[in-house]
Amino acid sequence: MDLLEAMQTLNACRHYRKDDVPEAMVVKLLNHARWAATGSNNQPVSYVVVRDAAKRQAIHDLYQPIWDMVMQKYASGEIKSGFDARFLANVDHFARHLADVPVMIVVCARWKELSALDAGLGRTVLTPGSSIYPAVQNLMLAARNEGLGTVLTTLLVLAEKEIQKLLEIPEDIATAAVVTLGWPEKPFPKKLKRRPLAEIAFQDRFGEPLPGASDYA
Ligand SMILES: Cc1cc2nc3c(=O)[nH]c(=O)nc-3n(C[C@H](O)[C@H](O)[C@H](O)COP(=O)(O)O)c2cc1C
Repeated sequence: MDLLEAMQTLNACRHYRKDDVPEAMVVKLLNHARWAATGSNNQPVSYVVVRDAAKRQAIHDLYQPIWDMVMQKYASGEIKSGFDARFLANVDHFARHLADVPVMIVVCARWKELSALDAGLGRTVLTPGSSIYPAVQNLMLAARNEGLGTVLTTLLVLAEKEIQKLLEIPEDIATAAVVTLGWPEKPFPKKLKRRPLAEIAFQDRFGEPLPGASDYA
């Protein structure tokens, strides 16, 4: 499919059919993912493809309480969500049916080799992930190209120790994300909900309108 169309319709797919995803297809997706750039080309990313039903159930059992805790914090106002009820129902459905998603890809990273250039800036550290998530985006775009749905999830980092144990991942390898993969139950969106370009792109000075940006709402 057209790359730009894939980018514009790559949603978080939270409803899956139970049909299996061929092994060779997953191999092909991971082969596409590995072309992503990494800092100094140190390529710290590796993957564990989880198909085993008992392990998928175990991952669900780790995910569900984390999601329930997040939901509780939304409900109590401890975390401001701003999400509508339909969105929360979708995310909740996803959590409850996670074990049924046929494939989960645990994205691993040799974290000791990631440099945190911005560690001393007194704000959230951003740079280490920049050697990991381009590969994840490649993976998800390649999946979209095959008509497969994905969700990039990060909530499971809170259960990193348990996932390491479950999948025998060494301690010096972090779990940066779990990407779910399967055939979508619903059609892909025609257009994703994203902020208009003019709100986020500027010229020469932050806040200065970028000519032409307002053509893209
Ligand atoms: C860094 C990152 C972490 C995310 N973590 C989760 C997660 O743990 N669970 C989940 O259901 N969705 C997760 N998502 C999916 C986002 O909620 C989703 O992409 C966003 O709401 C926009 O939805 P859309 O792409 O379908 O428009 C994550 C997305 C990103 C980029």
